[in-house]
Amino acid sequence: MNFTTPNPAASVFSPDFLWGGTTSAHQFEGGLEGHRRGLSVPDMMTGGSRTAPRYITRTVDPDLYYPSHTAVDFFHRYKEDIALYAEMGFKVFRMSINWARLFPTGFEEKPDPEGIAFYHNVFHELQKYGIEPLVTLSHYEMPYKLASKTRGWSTREPIESFLRYCKTVFEEYKNEVRLWLTFNELNILFMGVYGNINGGGIVPEGEKTAVGTAVQVDESWDNPQLRYNAVHHQLIASALAVKLAHEINPENQVGCMILGRVAYPYSCDPKDVLKAQKVMRKANYYVGDVQVRGRYPAFAPQIWKEDKVYVEVSDEDKKILEEGTVDFVSFSYYSSTTATDNPDVPIASGNMMRGPGNPYLKSSQWGWTIDPNGLKWYLNELYDRYQKPLFIVENGLGAEDTMEEDGSIHDSYRIDYMKRHIQAMHEAVEDGVELMGYTVWGCTDLVSASTGEMDKRYGMVYVNKQNDGSGDLSRHKKDSFYWYKQVIESNGQAALEQ
Ligand code: BG6
Repeated sequence: MNFTTPNPAASVFSPDFLWGGTTSAHQFEGGLEGHRRGLSVPDMMTGGSRTAPRYITRTVDPDLYYPSHTAVDFFHRYKEDIALYAEMGFKVFRMSINWARLFPTGFEEKPDPEGIAFYHNVFHELQKYGIEPLVTLSHYEMPYKLASKTRGWSTREPIESFLRYCKTVFEEYKNEVRLWLTFNELNILFMGVYGNINGGGIVPEGEKTAVGTAVQVDESWDNPQLRYNAVHHQLIASALAVKLAHEINPENQVGCMILGRVAYPYSCDPKDVLKAQKVMRKANYYVGDVQVRGRYPAFAPQIWKEDKVYVEVSDEDKKILEEGTVDFVSFSYYSSTTATDNPDVPIASGNMMRGPGNPYLKSSQWGWTIDPNGLKWYLNELYDRYQKPLFIVENGLGAEDTMEEDGSIHDSYRIDYMKRHIQAMHEAVEDGVELMGYTVWGCTDLVSASTGEMDKRYGMVYVNKQNDGSGDLSRHKKDSFYWYKQVIESNGQAALEQ
C-alpha cells in the first residue's frame, strides 16, 4: 500500500471558507448629527483610554466627547470602505444594524425610511463585489430611550420592540442578507458593570457614572438579579428572532455570538481546575447551551443559588427556547485567562476577562494575553460540545500604529498575531472542527469598545482619527492589508508558511 505524506502546510480550509472582516455600527458608522437616527446606548458613553475610564451620562453633555456619534463615519464612506474590502478579496463582511437608526426611540410602529435606505445601499454595494453580509442584530445596541425607560433587558418590555425591529429587517433585507447573528457577546453580562450596560442595556441611575474594563471603577451599583434577568430576556428574544428569521426566509441561517472566554487552571491544584471549570461554564456555556441546545444546562440552578438570584423560566419560556435554537455558533476570541481559588494571585491589569495573568504568555499593549493555542483549544471544546458549524467572527490585535512620512504603516506585530491565530485555526480544522469562516475585528480602524479611544487600532486599513476626535478620517492601507489579501487569495496558505 502506498502512503502519501501530507504536506503539513497545505490549506485544509474549504474553497467556500468565508474570509473577511468585522465591525459594529456604534464603533464604525457614526452618522448621528444631521440624520434621523436616535441615540443608542453606546452613544451615551464618553471617550476614555487605557488609563482613564469612560463615563456614561444620562443626557448628552455638550462639553463632553462621545466617540460613537461620528465613529469613523462608515455612514458617509461605505463605498470607499467596501471597495477596500473587495480589494483585499473579502468573501464576507460582518456588520451590525443600528436598531436606533431604524427605530429612533424603539417605540415607533414603523421604521425610519432613511435608515432603511442606508442599509439597502450598503448591502447593494457589497453585492456589487460578491461580498456576503453577516449581520448582527444587536451589537451592544439598543435605542437609548427604550433602555432608559425599561432598564434595558432587565425587564421583558424590550422583547416586543426588538421583534418588531427583527421582523422589519428580515422582511426588508430578505433578498440581501442570509447570515444573521442575534446578540453580540450576550455573555459579556458576566463581566462587570461594563457588560451590564453594553450587553444588557442596563443604564446606571447616576448622572455621570464611570465604566471601564481597562481601569478599576466603582461597581457598587451592580445588581446580579438585574443581570441574570437581562440574560434570560435576551435568550428569549434571541430564540424568538431565530424562529422568525426561519419563518420569513427558510434560507436564513442564524447564529449565536459568544464572547470566547478561555480560562485555564492557574495551576494543577485540583481546586484551580474546578475553578476554571466553573468559569468556563458560567462565562461560556451558560448562554451557549441555551442558544444551541434549547435549554438551560443542568448546572444553571447551582449558579443561581451561588449568586443568590432567582431566574423564572416558565413552561412557555422553555418552549420558546427549544424552538429557537441556532444554526451555527459564532464567537470572538482575542486572548485567554486563568482561574484560581487562591486570593493571593493578583488579577492581571487591563484584562477585560478579569482573571489572573499567565506567566507563559506575552500580552498586548493593553494587557490582553496573546495565545493562539487558546483558539485551537476553544474551537475543539466548542465543537466537541455542540457539533455545530463554528464561525470565528472576531479576532485581532489592538495596538498602536505609527504612520511613516511616506504614509506607510508597518504593522508586522499584527501580521504575526493574525498568522499565528490562522495557523491555530488551521490545526483545529485538521482536528476535525467544522469552521465556516474567519473575520478580523475592526478591519478598518474604529472606536475601541472598552476604552472608547482610537489609539487601540485593529485595522488593516488605518483611519486618520485620533483619541480627541481630530483627524480627516482618511483611509490608508497598512502592511497587514497586503498580507491579508495574499492570505485570502491563497485560501489561507500564505498564513501557513513560516
Ligand atoms: C469584542 C466586542 O468584545 O471586543 C467588540 O464585540 C470590541 O465590540 C472588541 O471592540 C475589542 O475590544 P476593544 O475594547 O479593544 O475594542
